[in-house]
Amino acid sequence: MALINDNKININLNLCNKNKIFTENNNEILIKYQETSSINSKYDVAENAFSFSEENLKEVSKILSKYPLEYKRSAIMPLLHLAQKQNNGWISYPIVEYISNIVGIPAIKILEIVNFYTMYNIRPTGEYLLQVCRTMPCWLCGAEEILKACKDILGIEIGMNTPDGVFSLREVECLGICIKSPVLQVNYDNYENLDYQKTVNLLLFLYKNI
Ligand code: FES
Repeated sequence: MALINDNKININLNLCNKNKIFTENNNEILIKYQETSSINSKYDVAENAFSFSEENLKEVSKILSKYPLEYKRSAIMPLLHLAQKQNNGWISYPIVEYISNIVGIPAIKILEIVNFYTMYNIRPTGEYLLQVCRTMPCWLCGAEEILKACKDILGIEIGMNTPDGVFSLREVECLGICIKSPVLQVNYDNYENLDYQKTVNLLLFLYKNI
């Protein structure tokens, strides 16, 4: 995806019809945006039936063993996390039904939990889930610049995925490390004290290391 020659790094992001040049470590980075409607093939099978892998079934046993049999429902949240990780970062409806059968409560109760907590994703996410904190401390310290860098580089708005399935952009409430504002969370890692250029560099780095 990234070609490096003569101090120039070319990356095809397959997003839209505009080219942009950014600099990183004195190298010139040309971002070529190309129009495409293709979607990642993993989305085509996203709603297929779900079951835990052999390895994760062992983890399920461990999780369930922490709770009395009559309180299996207490395991819902760790089971959802496990399922989300196995399912490329999101909870499909078949997962909701599957976990409902494991813990023995109606699927609607699982859906309520999935919809309430923002750490559960109810739509397919890219390889990298970018979550920009826009709560007051981060906002005062430049969260909008972080968001602008994401939009400029990726060509998408909050709530969207890039067509190639690499990035998803979301906003999030306080991530609990306001002292390091502004903060961007990428999957399970937090990137702190960012500004526009640092965010651009981070996104290019992530893209080159898929
Ligand atoms: S406001 Fe962004 S981490 Fe707290």
